[in-house]
Amino acid sequence: MISFSPFIVSLVSFVLFIIFLYKWYFNRAPTARKRLPPSPRKFPVIGNLHQLGLYPHRSLQALSKRYGSLMMLHLGRFPAVIVSSADAAREILKNQDLIFSNRPKSSILDKVLYGSKDIAFTPYGEHWRQVRSICVLQLLSNKRVQSFRHIREEETSLMIAKIRHSCSSSSSLINLSDILVALTNDIICRVALGRKYSDGEDSTKFESMLKEIGELIGIFNVEDYIPWLKWINTINGLNARVEKSAKLLDEFLSDVVEEHRNRKQGKTDRNGSKNGGGGPDLVDILLEVQRENKAGFPIETDTIKAVIFDMFAAGTDTTSTVLEWTLAELLKHPKTMEKLQNEVRQVAGNKSEISEDDLEKMPYLKAAMKESLRLHPPIPLLVPRESTQDSKVMGYDIAVGTRVIVNSWAIARDPMMWENPNEFNPERFFNTGIDFKGFNFEFIPFGAGRRGCPGIIFAIGVDELALAKLVHKFNFVAEKDLDMTEAPGSTIHKKSPLLVVATPH
Ligand code: HEM
Repeated sequence: MISFSPFIVSLVSFVLFIIFLYKWYFNRAPTARKRLPPSPRKFPVIGNLHQLGLYPHRSLQALSKRYGSLMMLHLGRFPAVIVSSADAAREILKNQDLIFSNRPKSSILDKVLYGSKDIAFTPYGEHWRQVRSICVLQLLSNKRVQSFRHIREEETSLMIAKIRHSCSSSSSLINLSDILVALTNDIICRVALGRKYSDGEDSTKFESMLKEIGELIGIFNVEDYIPWLKWINTINGLNARVEKSAKLLDEFLSDVVEEHRNRKQGKTDRNGSKNGGGGPDLVDILLEVQRENKAGFPIETDTIKAVIFDMFAAGTDTTSTVLEWTLAELLKHPKTMEKLQNEVRQVAGNKSEISEDDLEKMPYLKAAMKESLRLHPPIPLLVPRESTQDSKVMGYDIAVGTRVIVNSWAIARDPMMWENPNEFNPERFFNTGIDFKGFNFEFIPFGAGRRGCPGIIFAIGVDELALAKLVHKFNFVAEKDLDMTEAPGSTIHKKSPLLVVATPH
C-alpha cells in the first residue's frame, strides 16, 4: 500500500488551493473589472421594481438626481439602463443607435400582434426594416399625410359643430377630453380603415375592444420581468383576457381586410373608398403593396393587420392627449391663451374657417404646442429599447441584452438645459430653432434615431389644426382649481377629464 508523508499531503493541498484561487480570481475578473453605471441597491427577485412607483418617469427622475444621468436598475431579472440627460440620450439614440435599436419582447403584445409582426414592437431586423420602410414611404410620408387633409378639415369642423351644439343646449360643463379622444379616433379610423366606427351599432363594440387592449398594453405583466412567475397569469386571468382580446381584434381586422378586398375586386378603385375624399385608405394601400409586390418582398396579411393596429395603438391616445394638456395649460395661463387667440383670430381675419395653410402664419401656436409637448410628452419613457451587443456608453460598460429606458420627460425638464423648466412658457421656443424631430436631444417627445416616431407629421397636422380652430371659435373657462394631476399609465393623460364652459366667439 502506498503511503504519503504529511509534508507531501500538505504541499499538494497548498498547490491545489493556489490553483483554485488563481482560477477563481481570473474567472471573476472580467466582470469585476467592468465599469457599470451607478445603481441603487436591489432586492432579490424583484430587483428595483419596487422603486418605479405609480409614476415611473417621476420616480426615475428622482433616482437619477442621486445616481446620475446614466444609471442601472434591475427590473426583475433584467438589467436596464436609465437615460436622463440630453448627452446620454444622444449617445444611445444617435451615436450608438444601431446597437440600441432592438425592442424587448412584450408577451402581451406578442400575442395581440401576431407574434410582433407590427412596426413598433417587432425586434430590430429584416422584418422591422421592411415594415418600417412601407410605413415611412407609403403610409405616413409627407405627401400621404397631405392627401388626408380633407379628413382633418372635415373632422375638426364637425368637432366645432359638436361643441357649439353642446353649449347652445345648456350652459353646463363640456367634457373636452372625451371630445378630443373622439376626434382623433374618428380621424385615424377614416384614414386607416376608410370609415368611422363611432356611429351606429359598431361603436360600443369597437370602443370597448380598443379600451380593453389599451389597458392590457399598459398593464404591469410580471412575465416580462420575472419569467418563472408567468404561471401567475393563468391564475389571475390575464392570459384569458389577452386571448379573448387577440381573438376579437383579429376578427375585427380580418373583416376590415375582407371588406376592402371585396370592395376593390383586385384593383384600387379610387372612387370606391368610403373615407369621403375618394383616395385610398391605409388598408387599401397595404393591400395594393401586397398584391402588386410593390415593396419588392412578400407581405403576409397578418403583417397588414398588425401594422394597421399600430396606427391605432401609437396614434390615437397620444395625439388627443397632447391637445388635452395644451388646452389645460392654456386655461391655467390666461395671458398665454389671450396671446394665442389674438394670433389665431388675426390670421383668420374675416374668414369663417381656418385652413391648414393658415397654420404657417401662426408661430405662437407652434411654440405653444412645443411647450406642451416639452412639459407633457405623452409617452414620457419612450418605447423601451434593448442592446444587441456589448458596448461602452459614457465610459460605462453596457452588456448585450440590457434594456434602455429614455426618460424624455426628465430630460425636457433638466435645469441644466432649460430655464425655469417647470414653467409653461411658449416664448422660450422663439428664435431657438429647437424642434421635436429628433435632432435636439434635450427635447425628444417622439424619440429619435432609427426607431423614432414616423407619425410626427400626422400627429402635429391634427393637433395644430384642432387647436387653432378651438381657440378661434370659442372662449373657454375651466372649473376652478383646474386639476393637472397625471393619470398613471404608459401614455400619460390628465387624471380628471378637462371640463370647460365654451362660449362661441
Ligand atoms: C403626439 C403624438 C405622438 C407621440 C408623442 C408619439 C411618440 C412616439 C414615441 C416616443 C415612439 C418611440 C420612439 C423611440 O423608440 O425612439 C413612437 C414610435 C412610433 N410611433 Fe409615434 N407618437 C405619436 C403619434 C403617432 C402617430 C399619429 C402614428 C401613426 C399614425 C405613430 C406611429 C408610431 C410608430 C409606428 C412607432 C414605432 C416606430 C418603430 O419602432 O420603428 N405615432 N411614437
